[in-house]
Amino acid sequence: MARRTIVVTGGAGHVGSHLVELLVASGDDRVISLDNYSNGSRANHIDGAEYREGHTKDIAAHVPETPDILFHLGEYARIKTSFEDVAAVFDSNIVGTFAVTEFCRERAVSKLVYAASSTKFAIEGDGRNQNPYSFTKATNVDLINNYGRWYDLPYAICYFYNAFGPREVGGGKYATLIARFEELHRTGQPLTVASPGTQRRAFTYVKDLARGIMLVGEKGKGDGYALRAAKSYSVLEIAEAFGSEIEMTDDYPGRADVANDPTKARDELGWSPTLDVMDYIRSIRSKA
Ligand SMILES: NC(=O)c1ccc[n+]([C@@H]2O[C@H](COP(=O)([O-])OP(=O)(O)OC[C@H]3O[C@@H](n4cnc5c(N)ncnc54)[C@H](O)[C@@H]3O)[C@@H](O)[C@H]2O)c1
Repeated sequence: MARRTIVVTGGAGHVGSHLVELLVASGDDRVISLDNYSNGSRANHIDGAEYREGHTKDIAAHVPETPDILFHLGEYARIKTSFEDVAAVFDSNIVGTFAVTEFCRERAVSKLVYAASSTKFAIEGDGRNQNPYSFTKATNVDLINNYGRWYDLPYAICYFYNAFGPREVGGGKYATLIARFEELHRTGQPLTVASPGTQRRAFTYVKDLARGIMLVGEKGKGDGYALRAAKSYSVLEIAEAFGSEIEMTDDYPGRADVANDPTKARDELGWSPTLDVMDYIRSIRSKA
C-alpha cells in the first residue's frame, strides 16, 4: 500500500500521544503532529513522528501536505477551567476547529476524525450547554456533521469519556482526576472530591481510546462512535478505592452521568475496552 500521510492535531497531548504511538507502530505511514503546546509536552514525543508547533487556526500554513486522514484532537480540553478560560476555549475550539474543517474541505482530505466529548449526553439533559467546553465540543459535532451534509466531507466522530493512564497530568490547573488522585495519594494528602461525589464517569483507558480512534480512522463513517469503558463509577467510589482520606469541596462537579448508546464502536469496529479503572488503581496501590 502507498505510504499515507496522517495528521494528528494535539499529538503531544495525553490521548494524542498514544494515538501517534500506535500509528507509528502500526506501519510505515507518515505521521505528523500539529500542536501548540498549550497543554501538550515534548516529553510525549514519539520517535518516528514529525512534530510541528502551531495553532490549528493556522493549519494550512503549518501543513502544506494533503493528509489522507486527519485526526483532530488539538483543542482546549478541560471542563472546569473552561469558565475562566473562555477566550482560549473559543480561540482553539471554535476558530481553530473551523480552520481544520475548512482545511479538510479545501484539500479534499479523505477523512476527518473528530474527538468529541460525551458531556453533551448528560442524563440531566442539556449537557451541551453546561459549560463553555461542552458547548464548543457539541457545536463542533454540529459543524462537522453539517460539512458532511453541505460539502460531502468524509468524516467520523467518536466520543471520549474520561481518559486515564500513562502520560496523564496529575498536577497544576489542567490535572485530570485519576492522575490528580494518584499524586495526592502518593504525597499523603487528602483526595478532594467535588460534592456531591455521586457524579459518575466511565473512566476509559487511554490506550483503549487511542486504539478506538485509530479504528474509527480506518473504518468509521459518520457520527456516534462512543468509546467508553463498560462500567462507570462515582467520583466518590474512585476516591475510596485509593484508600486515602477524602475531603469534600464545593468545586464544579460537572454532569451527573451520561446516557448514550455505546454499541456502534463494538458492532461496526469490533472495539472493546481492555482495562477497568479499578484494576488500574489497584496496580497503583500495589506499587506504593
Ligand atoms: N481526555 C478526556 O477524557 C477527553 C474526553 C472527551 C473528549 N476529549 C477530547 O480529546 C482530545 C484530546 O484530549 P486530551 O485529554 O488528550 O487533552 P490534552 O490537553 O492532553 O491534549 C490536547 C492537545 O492539543 C493541544 N492543543 C490545544 N489547543 C490547540 C490548538 N489550538 N492548536 C494546536 N494544538 C492545540 C494541546 O497542547 C494538547 O497537546 C481533546 O479534543 C478533548 O476535548 C478528551
